[in-house]
Amino acid sequence: MADLLLGQVLSYTADPFHDGPAAARHEAHGAVLVDQGHIRDVGPADLLRKRHPQATVTDYGRALISAGFIDAHVHYPQTAIIASWGKRLIDWLNLYTFPEEMRFADPAYAEQIANRYLDLALAHGTTSMCSYATTHPASVDAFFAAARSRGLRAWAGKTCMDRNAPAGLCDTARSAYDDSKWLLNKWHGVDRLSYVITPRFSPTSTPEQLAALGALWSEYPDCLMQTHLSEQLDEIAWVRELFPQSRDYLDTYEAQGLLREGALYGHAIHLTAREKDRLREAGASLIHCPTSNTFIGSGLFDMTLAQTMRVGLATDTGGGSSFSMLHTMAAAYEVAQLRGQALHPSQLWYLATVGSARALHADDRIGNIAPGMEADLTVIDLASTHAIEQATRRADDIWQAIFPTIMLGDDRAIKAVWVGGKLR
Ligand code: GUN
Ligand code: ZN
Repeated sequence: MADLLLGQVLSYTADPFHDGPAAARHEAHGAVLVDQGHIRDVGPADLLRKRHPQATVTDYGRALISAGFIDAHVHYPQTAIIASWGKRLIDWLNLYTFPEEMRFADPAYAEQIANRYLDLALAHGTTSMCSYATTHPASVDAFFAAARSRGLRAWAGKTCMDRNAPAGLCDTARSAYDDSKWLLNKWHGVDRLSYVITPRFSPTSTPEQLAALGALWSEYPDCLMQTHLSEQLDEIAWVRELFPQSRDYLDTYEAQGLLREGALYGHAIHLTAREKDRLREAGASLIHCPTSNTFIGSGLFDMTLAQTMRVGLATDTGGGSSFSMLHTMAAAYEVAQLRGQALHPSQLWYLATVGSARALHADDRIGNIAPGMEADLTVIDLASTHAIEQATRRADDIWQAIFPTIMLGDDRAIKAVWVGGKLR
């Protein structure tokens, strides 16, 4: 039986970084027909009601029906250490992150946190995510099992580290290759799940480990590969010491076969001109994590890169300070303001939906509302608190009505979430 959802419908027919707000399509009295996990029809409510008289109608009134949010870079194992005080990247990893990730040696703990993380993500309207696990293979199993039981389209991989981390978190070049391959064969393409080859970052991998994962990637060219790039200046100086033969940070990956289309680089803040050129030529994706970049004190991402590259948006939980993609859009707005650029609400919303889907090479399936797309939808109350409601009273277009929710909204704004055509 088909479902017909009524509300204001927001979708994209082009890229607002090229075409401005006209890239978005807003149907003030719209409808979305969902059947067997997919979107089958979109248009004015009156028309779709006539066209699909048998469908079960759910009327969301003035609420906004959007594609579900896509969080393109998260560490689900860091769920419990979100909002840890006072440290910058390397100290934050050593003091908070690595001890917490050690606990994932216990598969029961991994299962508990995977479920907690996914419940929080869904409560915030996030219907897809690309996550790091820990070095423990069972942490990947826990995440994929929890995502599968919720019907989510999700990406994850075993984080690989063979140096500069506690012994209990280190694998080797060989075991990273073997375990990643085993997990890839077990999970990649099962239901809506995809395996991502995941070297944590150059400081915690030997060149041999990076090379082993580069070799694995060449065996599975349709997989994505995720890692971190140029997040903090201290980190970049450390990479220079560890890889004296490399031209720059990106070169430490490129030299081992870890740069091409399908590569996802988290942060990518302090890039040289050469790195930007090579990233663009290679067709790599950059993942902007603005709450993390301010929380850990990393720096200000250059959003003009979105004009020429695939850029996704992400919470980077728990280096990021929120589970909410609304907060993350607000932080992206503020970071861009500090660089003299005012991102339009159509661009912010795009980054959290189509932009992240494009970064993950999944924009033919998720991130937008159009016939044939998978039915992952988030319904947003645009007056979820008194503070937001009063700020929208004088709105005379959809963007003025949406922007207060971007800046002030949280999980209270999430009215309903549909995953794979089913109401959560
Ligand atoms: N760089 C390497 N690992 C991490 C991590 O877990 N979080 C962040 N923010 N940066 C990293
Ligand atoms: Zn990260």
